[in-house]
Amino acid sequence: MRTQSIITLEQFIIEKEKSNPEATGGFSQIIRDLMLACRIINREVTKAGLVDILGSLNATNIQGEEVQKLDIYAEKQLIDALRKGGETCAVGSEEQEEIVFLNPKGKYVVLIDPLDGSSNIDVNGSIGTIFSIYKRISKGDQLLPEDYLQKGRNQVAAGYILYGSSTMLIFTTGHGVNAFTLDPSIGEFLLSHSNIRYPDRCNIYSINEGNYRKLFEGVKQYLRFIKTSNEVKKPYSARYVGSLVADFHRNLLKGGIYLYPGTTDKPSGKLRLLYEGNPMAMLAEQAGGMATNGYMEILDIEPTELHQRTPLFLGNKEEVNMIHNFLQVYDQISQLVTNTIGKEKS
Ligand code: AHG
Ligand code: MN
Ligand code: MN
Repeated sequence: MRTQSIITLEQFIIEKEKSNPEATGGFSQIIRDLMLACRIINREVTKAGLVDILGSLNATNIQGEEVQKLDIYAEKQLIDALRKGGETCAVGSEEQEEIVFLNPKGKYVVLIDPLDGSSNIDVNGSIGTIFSIYKRISKGDQLLPEDYLQKGRNQVAAGYILYGSSTMLIFTTGHGVNAFTLDPSIGEFLLSHSNIRYPDRCNIYSINEGNYRKLFEGVKQYLRFIKTSNEVKKPYSARYVGSLVADFHRNLLKGGIYLYPGTTDKPSGKLRLLYEGNPMAMLAEQAGGMATNGYMEILDIEPTELHQRTPLFLGNKEEVNMIHNFLQVYDQISQLVTNTIGKEKS
């Protein structure tokens, strides 16, 4: 027998709107637009193995990566839905070099990673859509870089849709993190996890450890510590899907840390600040966790370009702080070594 009443995403949004006297409904419309697009994406994702939509377009995006057909399909659904909804003045997408202008009267800027973890499509792995919503700052007819190059702290909402064994929406408007699971039989997202918080203990670490020799010493020492030190009473589990949405989601529910550090050949790492770092950082913070680039909080970074990359350390607060300590100590040591060698030479 059901003991809890069902709350749909629509009811949840209406309730939140009622409690905010300044709400005009514009923001709620954007969530509806995104969810409409994501239901369509979900339909295509679940049948991707059946139809001839699999495989690559033999094109590369502006990041120099191979673009999968579903990336383009997902982006089109999202942009079309936001255009029709009318509340969005511009969309920035991981797949587009420039910002896409929609309605000049729209009050919001939306940034999207239309399909995250797209290398998992061919192997039926979990993938996702990430979004980040900002209020437009400038008032004139012309949209300005200050409207879409805002720091993550200014996000009014952020979230992701995970296309996994169930399809889920996880999002925050700065008042905690809630998750909604799609009931495919009625086509509705139903509230399934309220006010999600990271578990106290960090049980999992997630990193592409194949990059080990290219990591900076602080990160190497951190990894060595958690794997070999007797101070670590219960060993961590290594878990890495290679899809940020899936890795983040598991770590949020089970307790864990996600690392995509800078490497010696790519000091800024791989992930994008605006499409991946900021939205995940807002969610992490709202769930009691932390997100940094190793030196400062992700949400405080002032972006200078749309496709900017950032190292990312994301998850349980204490764990992220521990990495900071390792980075600081090993930075100081290497500074010391450089200075000493410098003196000896002179
Ligand atoms: P995208 O599919 O949007 O390009 O993102 C892929 C990202 C992220 O989802 C994942 O965590 C990371 O790339 C995996 O990178 P590696 O294969 O280098 O581990
Ligand atoms: Mn991505
Ligand atoms: Mn992507």
